[in-house]
Amino acid sequence: MNEPVHQLRCTGCARVVAQGEARSNFRCAECGDLFEVEYPAWSVAAARAESSVAANGRIGGSATAVAEPPAAPPRAWRPNASALRWLWKERRHSALPIDQSGVWRFRELLPILDKPNDAVTLREGNTPLYGMTRCAEAVGMDHLLAKHQGMNPTGSFKDTGMTAALSVARELGFEWVACASTGNTSAAMAAYAARAGMRCLVLIPEGKIAWGKLSQAMDYGALTCQLRTDFDGCVRVLAEVVERYPIYLLNSVNPYRLEGQKTPALEIAEELEWNVPDHILVPGGNLANCSALGKGFQEMRHLGLTTAMPRISVIQAEGANPLYTAMMTSHGRELTPVHADTRATAIRIGNPASWKKAVRILEQTGGYCEQVSEAEIAVAKAEIGREGIGCEPASAVTFAGLKKLVADGRVGRTENVVLLLTGHTLKDSEYTLDFHRDKLLTEAERRGHEPAIAGLRSEMPVLDASSDAVLRALDAEAGAARSVGVGR
Ligand code: F0G
Repeated sequence: MNEPVHQLRCTGCARVVAQGEARSNFRCAECGDLFEVEYPAWSVAAARAESSVAANGRIGGSATAVAEPPAAPPRAWRPNASALRWLWKERRHSALPIDQSGVWRFRELLPILDKPNDAVTLREGNTPLYGMTRCAEAVGMDHLLAKHQGMNPTGSFKDTGMTAALSVARELGFEWVACASTGNTSAAMAAYAARAGMRCLVLIPEGKIAWGKLSQAMDYGALTCQLRTDFDGCVRVLAEVVERYPIYLLNSVNPYRLEGQKTPALEIAEELEWNVPDHILVPGGNLANCSALGKGFQEMRHLGLTTAMPRISVIQAEGANPLYTAMMTSHGRELTPVHADTRATAIRIGNPASWKKAVRILEQTGGYCEQVSEAEIAVAKAEIGREGIGCEPASAVTFAGLKKLVADGRVGRTENVVLLLTGHTLKDSEYTLDFHRDKLLTEAERRGHEPAIAGLRSEMPVLDASSDAVLRALDAEAGAARSVGVGR
């Protein structure tokens, strides 16, 4: 019998199952842990199995006997790295939809579909890597880059994972797909389901997601249920729904999502001429994305496409910091869920599903976990806005976290750092307007940050309809800019 092209390996007990054997909640029947996709033809399978078994003894305290021996030593697939790099670049000039996708352009590294030509794509990926001159200066670094995943079709990094997992759902013949979401996953899922002609169910916490995201799900035709609970409550309810109804779960516990979400790692390496940065900073919510990126970098190095690994660090909001607390109190062996509360609603998550995967990637790459306050997030977001780039609040935790890592020397001033900006600034314009109207933060929250906030707030005067009035406003603004030394 032919070896399967891909299979699922439990990250807890290393049990291997075929695609069709995965349970509807994507949890291992033996130990309850999550799966990841592996490709037996790559010898990386064996290496990853070893590391997951080794890590199992350390993380979560749930060392479980290996249910099955690792797969027979695989035939190592060593691609011709330069031929692949050339092919991936060449595809950018092709008219074929999957070639125009920044995910499927790299399809040799995610062979999860029987018919990749049928992938459901909105031409996701291929997002810009921006230089952040002013932010670099503000933090005292020589240079700084930001990979803007908010420039995806629905405005967040979720599109790269959704094209992958929803295409799998369609190939498996599902009519319905579902997710619990803080907003971006639901927007992405609804868009891709609509493109595929599938139906979708969205569970969101009532009143706790940004309106832009909610409106997207409705625009794309999702059945959007607002539950009287938080994100973690929505996850719990959905787990029961998928047991009781033939509906395909598209939360990030679905390992196919992560195959798409690993491709920004490939893009970053490609954009740096197949070098990797020293350090990547990622926001932490449900904690899947950091491990997806880590998988991408690990696979590239293993296959000879790159020669090094970046550190991958995770930044959380202080009000939604279960991983940070777990790292501080138990080096990531135990995670106690918290009641999450932050205005960065995308990462308002107290019981993250993929925390063990996140701990593993922090350990494997030597990354840090840091937390940042509401004021630090707001200031960082405004500074990213002043670069002409902008992002949603959850993405800005990366820059706020970088400041802390530079301040105490964990990041050197000459290091090559990439911030992963996960969502577009238009996702949460209410937050942005509240910041500039000075209605966002409480007195206590802003204490110590007043000068930074005052320097970043934009004015929005209401004037008489006369050029005199406009010129007075111009003069006042130019004077203010001169006094703080900007605008030259
Ligand atoms: N940034 C944004 C903009 C997000 O929407 C999310 C997660 C994250 C960061 C965190 O990524 O969960 O992989 O650690 N949003 C989810 C959602 C949970 O439902 O849209 P993570």
